[in-house]
Amino acid sequence: MDYRATWDLSINAPEQFWGEQAQHIHWLTPPKTIFRAVDAAHGEWFSDGTLNSSDLALDANIRAGRGAQHALIYDSPVTNTVRYYTYTELKEEVARFAGALRAEGVQKGDRVVIYMPMIPQAVIAMLACARLGAVHSTVFGGFAAGELAARIDDAAPKAVVTASCGIEVSKIIAYKPLVDEALRQARHQPDCCIVFQRPEATATLVAGRDKDWGEVMAAAHPADPVPVAATDPLYILYTSGTTGKPKGVVRDNGGHAVALRYSMSLVYDARPGDVFWAASDVGWVVGHSYIVYGPLFAGCTSVLYEGKPVKTPDAGAFWRVCQDHKVNLLFAAPTAFRAIRKEDPEADQLHRYQIPALKRIFLAGERLDPATYDWLRECTHLPVLDHWWQTETGWAICCNPIGIEMMTVKPGSASLPSPGYNVQVVDAAGRQAGAGEQGRIAIKLPLPPGCLTTVWGDDGRYRSTYLDPIPGYYDSGDSGYIDEDGYVFVMGRTDDAINVAGHRLSTGQMEEVIASHPAVAECCVVGTHDGLKGQLPLGLVLVKDSATIAPDELEEELIDMVREKIGALACFQRAIVVERLPKTRSGKILRRIIRQMADGEPWSAPSTIDDPAILEEINQRLSGGET
Ligand code: COA
Ligand code: AMP
Repeated sequence: MDYRATWDLSINAPEQFWGEQAQHIHWLTPPKTIFRAVDAAHGEWFSDGTLNSSDLALDANIRAGRGAQHALIYDSPVTNTVRYYTYTELKEEVARFAGALRAEGVQKGDRVVIYMPMIPQAVIAMLACARLGAVHSTVFGGFAAGELAARIDDAAPKAVVTASCGIEVSKIIAYKPLVDEALRQARHQPDCCIVFQRPEATATLVAGRDKDWGEVMAAAHPADPVPVAATDPLYILYTSGTTGKPKGVVRDNGGHAVALRYSMSLVYDARPGDVFWAASDVGWVVGHSYIVYGPLFAGCTSVLYEGKPVKTPDAGAFWRVCQDHKVNLLFAAPTAFRAIRKEDPEADQLHRYQIPALKRIFLAGERLDPATYDWLRECTHLPVLDHWWQTETGWAICCNPIGIEMMTVKPGSASLPSPGYNVQVVDAAGRQAGAGEQGRIAIKLPLPPGCLTTVWGDDGRYRSTYLDPIPGYYDSGDSGYIDEDGYVFVMGRTDDAINVAGHRLSTGQMEEVIASHPAVAECCVVGTHDGLKGQLPLGLVLVKDSATIAPDELEEELIDMVREKIGALACFQRAIVVERLPKTRSGKILRRIIRQMADGEPWSAPSTIDDPAILEEINQRLSGGET
């Protein structure tokens, strides 16, 4: 069956389509019910099936004869370490850590927050939770203590698992003090905190609460996989919302397993034994889906890389990893290749390495700019494939469906809807847009397996954010258009999210932090174009009449506050003090125009503006480069 026929079947006969896909994974109880509508907007996949995601990732591969194959390759230029884990070895570590968690009282349904750098113990901890049917919530290490505290309060974990430090190029970042501070701020307190001590920094343990990873592992009895319902949650992954309160995207076990297994062949054309490298972080959805679960569900070898595209030690790092581990399929964010290209425009580094094993390069996480696409194509002569997805969906909404047939690549487009996704562009009134017409990108319900099932602890927020805005559809929060051939072009967000180095961040959340400064009367944050990271936040600040602080000093304090409250990853570096903020007569800040000005794009004053002169003033401040 070709792509079109497959897609048609997936939309017209979803139960038949996903029922067949479900047969490719090992169930403890195979599902009889493929889809069960819960209400008009929402339903459950494989609700009467049972399985265990750690069994599927590890034990099932061993049963299939892959016990001696590498499951995980840990490559860490920042510690000069390479370590290989076979499926059998990884399973032993996971089963033992699951036993350790169980000994600490963690059971099916309990939450465990994991705050770890890119080390094998992060993967082991995630799979150990899955083995017990516990729900992991992995938090990216670049988040500050306050963000970690907000996630701890929301997920209410029984245990926190962390490491003594992370290593950012050559900078040692002590994680444990951040965890201690987060637990000091959090209302919820876990029963225990398990700490993996790295030689680069030793964490101080709090007596009675903190346990040493090595000691709990030594005392543990390996745990077997616990059967869970397909609809039981596997993990919570927080993503930026429009306010300071992060949204906990909930992923189930069954739909996730079926969808990821399918995506490994549809999107990546991965075969058992292939070496798959997603150069991301376990704290992001790419890390969850394509460092941890997807490659292991498919019997591949997954690379876990603790380093950067540049500076660890140079712009040849990606090619060196591809050579050393014979990587077949590489997945990264465009920003990583922009960083490489900036340092090595002629791709001299690439020519130092032999990478005949590499078959394809996949990009996602942000818009793939044509310049990066062209450079990568020209220097590698490999297929470079863009695909579009989100934390919420867990796998590609649009891709080049190479597992079925390779379609023409149109640079600038994430290609075609994956089977299961009925992607449409609609206008503000919910009417379907014509070919080439811009609008909100929406997915007709029901969503395919693998997508979020709710927002943790707040189903109302799930519905109001994603389902209510366009009745009958999932609102992706992205805008764009579909061309006459059905190719989807994702152009930007419709909400206040910005994309910094492939990381989705909320400007609303930064505004909350800035507004809490005692000298600030009002503020707004917009995402402006950046040649390396895609976007960077820019703050416009109105100070209180009573404030005496100098603008430079205020800017410094605001930068520190955002760094301390949200984290270094926000890359908040500019806050400009203005006399007034440009607003419509109804009081809405004209964010789009501010962004256009900052990017040097053409702009015009809308008729609804309260005071047109203010726009000129702000334009002068922005074009004068004053900070
Ligand atoms: N733990 C602690 N701090 C972290 C961190 C982590 N896991 N990750 C990033 N940070 C910090 C960095 O140290 C840096 O701090 P600094 O301001 O003190 O220097 C800040 O957050 C910004 O980091 P980063 O965005 O990595 O910027 P950079 O200038 O060091 O590197 C790139 C630029 C483009 C090389 C880098 O952003 C990159 O590798 N991007 C690809 C990311 C990616 O894969 N995204 C897709 C996710 S799906
Ligand atoms: P996150 O949930 O953090 O992975 O961010 C998802 C968001 O990143 C999407 O909603 C898009 O705005 C953006 N994004 C991801 N992949 C692409 C892509 N291939 N093209 C354009 N935007 C993308």
